[in-house]
Amino acid sequence: MTKQFDVVVIGGGPAGYVAAIRAGQLGLSVACAESNPYADPKGEPRLGGTCLNVGCIPSKALLQSSENYHLLHEGFAQHGITVSDAKIDIATMVGRKNKIVDQFTGGIKGLFRKYKVTFMPGHGRFVAAGGAGWKLDIGGEAVEAKHVIVATGSRSRPLPGVPVDNETIVDNVGALDFKAVPKKLGIIGSGVIGLELGSVWKRLGAEVTILEALPTFLGACDEAVSKEAWKVFTTKQGLDIKLGCRIGEVKQGKSGVSIAYEQDGKATTLECDKLIVSIGRVPNTDGLAADAVGLKLDARGFIEVDGHCRTTLPNVYAVGDVVRGPMLAHKAMEEGVMVAEIIAGQAGHVNLDTVPWVIYTSPEIAWVGKTEQQLKAEGVAYRTGQIPFMANGRAMGMGDTTGFVKMIADAKTDRILGVHIIAAHASELISEAVVAMEFSASSEDLARIVHAHPTLSEVMHEAALAVDKRALHF
Ligand code: NAI
Repeated sequence: MTKQFDVVVIGGGPAGYVAAIRAGQLGLSVACAESNPYADPKGEPRLGGTCLNVGCIPSKALLQSSENYHLLHEGFAQHGITVSDAKIDIATMVGRKNKIVDQFTGGIKGLFRKYKVTFMPGHGRFVAAGGAGWKLDIGGEAVEAKHVIVATGSRSRPLPGVPVDNETIVDNVGALDFKAVPKKLGIIGSGVIGLELGSVWKRLGAEVTILEALPTFLGACDEAVSKEAWKVFTTKQGLDIKLGCRIGEVKQGKSGVSIAYEQDGKATTLECDKLIVSIGRVPNTDGLAADAVGLKLDARGFIEVDGHCRTTLPNVYAVGDVVRGPMLAHKAMEEGVMVAEIIAGQAGHVNLDTVPWVIYTSPEIAWVGKTEQQLKAEGVAYRTGQIPFMANGRAMGMGDTTGFVKMIADAKTDRILGVHIIAAHASELISEAVVAMEFSASSEDLARIVHAHPTLSEVMHEAALAVDKRALHF
C-alpha cells in the first residue's frame, strides 16, 4: 500500500530536517527524503545538508583549529607564552572535523526517532497532484502527502570552463579535506566561503591569492566594516586579494593549476597547487519534476514563494536556499519551523529584515539590518555611533582589540536600523542587536540596559551611547 503522510519534506538540510522535527512535534505524520552523496557508515545519506556535512559546521571546526595554531605562533607571545617545536598534523585536524560531522549528522537521525519522523533515503520528486494531495516518488517508492515542503538547498555555482574535481580544483566540499597545506592556494571569489576557507589555509601556512570579479570588496557589508576588513586581511594577515579580475583560461596540469586573468586591462597568470572556486551558489531544483506539476520558478531559478513560503501550488511550500533571501542556515531553519507551524494551523512567522549575517574570519564580521550606504541611497536620515574594541577592558585583556561596533539609528525615531560589528566573537555579540531590532528598540533603549563588566558586549552599549554622542569610555 502507498505510504501516506500529512507532510513529506524533500531534503534533510537545516530547512528540511528542522521542518520535519517541528511537524513531528506538532503531531503531524511526517517523512523526510534525503539523497545526498555523504553516506554514513551504514551507506545511508547523512542528514544535515550542506551546513552539517560540508559547510557551516566542518568549516567552523577547521577555522578553530587553524586559529589555535595561528595563536600559538603569533598570539600567545604577548601573554609571555612561547612554544617551540609546535607541529601541525592535518590528518588529525581533518579527522576531528569529520568526527564532529558524524556526531551531529547522526544526532539528527536520533532526533527523527524521538519526534517520529520517518527518514526516507532516496531522491524525492513530484509525480502528480492526487491521492491524499500530492503523489511523490522517493527513491522509487510511491508516497502520498497532504502537504509537501521542498527544502532541496543549493550547490556551488560552477564557473564555465573550470571543472571541479574536488582534488586540485575544489569547491566548498574539497576545500575542507586537503591532505596537506597547499604551498600556493588560489581562490576565485572573495565572498564568504573564499574568505573563511582562505583564512583557514593561510593560517596554516599557505600563500593565498584571491581573485575577485568585482572592483569592490565585501560590498554587502557596511563600508566602514569592509574597509577595516580589507586592512586587516591584506595588510596584517597577508591575504593577497585582487579586485576587478576577469578570469580567462584555467588549465590543470600535473603539478597544479594555472589561471589566466586580467586585472586593470593587464593580462597575467596565477600558478597555484590548489584552486578553490567560491563564486556563489545556485538553487537545487533539478530532478524535482517541478515542470510535471507546474511548480513555478523565478527568473533566477529559485522556487517562487510568498512571505510564508507558500509556492504557486496548493499545500506545497519551499524553504531555505531553494527560495529567495539569504542562503543562511539559520534563515532556512526558521522558515522550516514557520511552515510546519502553518501546516499545523498555527501562525508561523519569519522576519527577513532581522536575519543576522556572520562571516567567520578573524576578526569575525557580523551585521543585522541596513548598512549606512543603503540608508543613504534610500534617503533615510540617520545617526551613527561607532566604538572601537581598543576602548574595551575585556578585549584588552584578551589581547585582541581589533575592530569596532557601529550602530545606526533613525534620526527622528531613534529606532535601530542596523548594527555592524567586526571583532572577535562578533557572531555572538550580534544577537543582542537582533533582539533589539526585532523588538523595535531605540539606541536609547540599549544605552539604558545594564551590560556586564568587563565584557565585549560593553562596546555595543557604548556604540548605543555614541549614537547620542555621549559615549563614556571613548
Ligand atoms: P558569495 O556570494 O558570498 O561570494 C561570491 C564572490 O564571488 C562574490 O564576491 C562575487 O563577486 C565573486 N564572483 C562571482 N563570479 C566571479 C568570477 N567569475 N570571478 C571572480 N569572482 C567572482 O558566495 P560564496 O562565498 O560562494 O558563498 C555562497 C553562499 O554560502 C553565501 O551567499 C552564503 O550565504 C553562504 N555561506 C554562508 C556562510 C556563513 O554564514 N558564515 C559561510 C559560507 C557560505
